[in-house]
Amino acid sequence: MFEGQKVRLRGVRPEDWEHFLQWDLDNDAQRYGWNVWPPLGTEAARDFARQESAKRPDRDEFRLVIETLDGAPAGSLNVHGADQRRGSFEYGIALAREHWGNGYGEEAIALLLRYMFGELRYHKVQAWVYAFNERSAAMHRKFGMVLEGTVRESHFTDGRYWDSYLFGMTRTEYLEQYGGHWGDLPR
Ligand SMILES: CC(C)(COP(=O)(O)OP(=O)(O)OC[C@H]1O[C@@H](n2cnc3c(N)ncnc32)[C@H](O)[C@@H]1OP(=O)(O)O)[C@@H](O)C(=O)NCCC(=O)NCCS
Repeated sequence: MFEGQKVRLRGVRPEDWEHFLQWDLDNDAQRYGWNVWPPLGTEAARDFARQESAKRPDRDEFRLVIETLDGAPAGSLNVHGADQRRGSFEYGIALAREHWGNGYGEEAIALLLRYMFGELRYHKVQAWVYAFNERSAAMHRKFGMVLEGTVRESHFTDGRYWDSYLFGMTRTEYLEQYGGHWGDLPR
């Protein structure tokens, strides 16, 4: 269920700390993914991986490592803002720079949506993309998500305010696009 043709989603392991630490040294990638933070100490990075590794999914919120099929950690994604009453959730995703542009992001999101829609009965996914993140906006468009709105000057980084885009996709839209049964993945 969590394996596609390019990547697999797996739980975090304590030994992933070095990867998280390394990924966080790429400030541009951090900026695209969330926020720029000061470099983490090794103990804090160990702590982060240990804690993530020990967590059970909490109200449908969790983090998974994205790895290539030969087992190389490539990045991670996390589900947040999961609201069972509204049936909607959000996610964050970040790949290490050397893995960009291989279709990993698209497939990782497809695997996640198949699970959230097909197993947890969610109705809608929403994804926030900063306006300067053209790669991510292109990926979300290509994936078939709908640009639902622009929130003006809602984010601050690199010395100025930026707009944020809200992309969304319903379970029905996912099914229309990716096939009549849950086994289908983007081709
Ligand atoms: C954004 C991110 C998750 C995308 O994942 P990815 O694996 O690099 O993207 P994919 O290879 O799946 O790309 C899918 C499509 O997006 C578009 N795309 C990807 N990179 C692009 C680029 N540099 N310019 C224009 N379009 C691009 C293309 O249409 C591509 O499909 P194609 O290769 O068949 O033409 C990844 O680049 C990343 O982690 N970036 C840093 C953190 C980040 O931005 N996180 C997202 C926050 S919302």
